[in-house]
Amino acid sequence: MALRNLRYIGDPILNKISRPITQVDDKIKNLLDDMIETMRSKEGVGLAAPQIGVLKRVVIIQLSDEDVRYELINPEILEQTGEEVLHEGCLSVPDESHFVKRPTFVKVKALDRNGDLIIVEGTERLAQALCHEIDHLNGILYVSKIEEDYEEELEEN
Ligand code: CO
Repeated sequence: MALRNLRYIGDPILNKISRPITQVDDKIKNLLDDMIETMRSKEGVGLAAPQIGVLKRVVIIQLSDEDVRYELINPEILEQTGEEVLHEGCLSVPDESHFVKRPTFVKVKALDRNGDLIIVEGTERLAQALCHEIDHLNGILYVSKIEEDYEEELEEN
């Protein structure tokens, strides 16, 4: 495993669309391992490949040490319901957090590191993380989705 350099907001790679993986081989497994090490070193709860400069549709999510780690290749949202406004941050946007509207439930299909099809259903924080990381694969940073009304309300209080 190797630590990779993080890309930060302003780096044009973060606004590009990532390419699907056509073959889940050792290269992809190495990429996943590097992403895990990099995410852990920054105490993040999720990371998408473009954040380390790799335009491939690969994301990882681990909400806390005790939680399951999701390693998702070519993730696709199949269903989403509800909405709630949650506080959110991103390793590529250091020292900031903002309110963003996310679904309360999402169902995602993806391949795992063995190339097997998996379905992940997430509510609340997991739904939020799934949407946040999949947005990265489409060149979208959460700061483009800030709920300004919520932010203003906070400042007033
Ligand atoms: Co992020």
